[in-house]
Amino acid sequence: MLEIREGVVEYLEIDGQKELKGTVRISGAKNSALPDMAAAVLTDEPVVLENLPYLLDVSTMRSLLEHIGFDIQELSEGVFSLRLKDISSLEAPYELVSRMRASILVLGPMLTRFGYAKVALPGGCSIGTRPVDLHLKALKQMGADITVEHGFIYAKAPYGLKGVHVRFNKKTVTGTENIMMAAVLADGETVIENAAMEPEVVDLANMLKKMGANIKGEGTDRIIIKGVKKLSGVKHRIIPDRIEAGTFAVLSALFGGSIVLENYPVRYLDYVHKVFNKIGIDVVPISENQVAVRSSQKLKPVYIQTKEYPYFPTDLQAQFMTMLSVVEGRSRITENIFENRFMHVPELKRLGADITVRGKDAFIKGVEKLTGAQVKATDLRASAAMVIAGLIAEGKTRIYDIYHLDRGYENIDAKLRLLGASVKRGFEEISG
Ligand code: UD1
Repeated sequence: MLEIREGVVEYLEIDGQKELKGTVRISGAKNSALPDMAAAVLTDEPVVLENLPYLLDVSTMRSLLEHIGFDIQELSEGVFSLRLKDISSLEAPYELVSRMRASILVLGPMLTRFGYAKVALPGGCSIGTRPVDLHLKALKQMGADITVEHGFIYAKAPYGLKGVHVRFNKKTVTGTENIMMAAVLADGETVIENAAMEPEVVDLANMLKKMGANIKGEGTDRIIIKGVKKLSGVKHRIIPDRIEAGTFAVLSALFGGSIVLENYPVRYLDYVHKVFNKIGIDVVPISENQVAVRSSQKLKPVYIQTKEYPYFPTDLQAQFMTMLSVVEGRSRITENIFENRFMHVPELKRLGADITVRGKDAFIKGVEKLTGAQVKATDLRASAAMVIAGLIAEGKTRIYDIYHLDRGYENIDAKLRLLGASVKRGFEEISG
């Protein structure tokens, strides 16, 4: 199990510009694994999840579920059995929620199955304030009595939740998932309007349906759920991680297409591929589940706007920015989802990138090359952007606060070393 070491800061040191080639296997999706694990709260029967990635966030969710009373067993590599037979606590403590905001995903399932939940209120995070007001508003509409006191959300529904018409005024991924999970055991029909359409929402719906839930419309912005009395256990395989896939696709493009990507979810990355094409990069299938990413021309600058699925994901914004920082000409990226998701810009500038931020826009003027420096990983995806930058930069790059990377990228240093990268981890004692 992955964990954070106390009293030390961990760094990743990359000696850049090594030739990368070989095959990388894309892991199971973090953003499917977390809601799918939370969905195991909805039944007293065993839930078996396959292709579960070994990530810090998955370990955090495991700790949270074990705190609630789960028995979790590793059956074989990447295959886990999760079972909640006897509850020991209906609380998600601050220590775990502060590590991972997605802990909020246990709120809907605990409340709908047990009529009570106490979940620490997630605080702000490095990419923005990220409130959970839409989750709470919808649960209140479903009849929950919710109060927020002393930093905790107290939710009660002793007589169960009822099906209602929920309209999110903003598309929210975990909000949609939380309400979908609450609605599967609610009394009557719930309609979620302006629902998130991400593949991870669809994956969760597929899993819930195998457990006996009645759900229609997942993958569209209108999901209809008819509550059932009880859900059963299930065996379910986590879908491939489209963000990890997109991250390695960027890397492959920067290294002339010599990296083959296996278990690559082509269907989830349509829009991203359109953007690649505009830059002059093609994603070509080489077998049923393998692709190569190639460019047969000089790369061109581009304008990218982040937007909810099926459009360009905010979770790939930082990685594309690194790529565009070495593409000749002027590119622009508008970040529409999170208000503070340009924390990687000052770090990229330390490597020599020429980027100016004005509000939601980053203006990128391509430079000839990046040069190694010491930088910080400011959030999960920004840390991936730093790794890509370090791999293309001249000389050594040392990335601090690398635990962000372990939250969402399985075995990244091993995967990179297999491709021929010079990557090593180290620790520095925290003084003072
Ligand atoms: C999920 C993903 C994360 C991704 C994000 C956007 C998981 C575990 N995480 O996060 O990787 O970056 O979607 O694609 O799946 N908002 C509110 N009130 C709410 C909820 C959200 O104002 O109650 C706002 C957020 O601040 C943000 C926007 O809505 O500006 C979208 O956030 P949301 O889709 O909820 O992100 P997460 O589900 O937390």
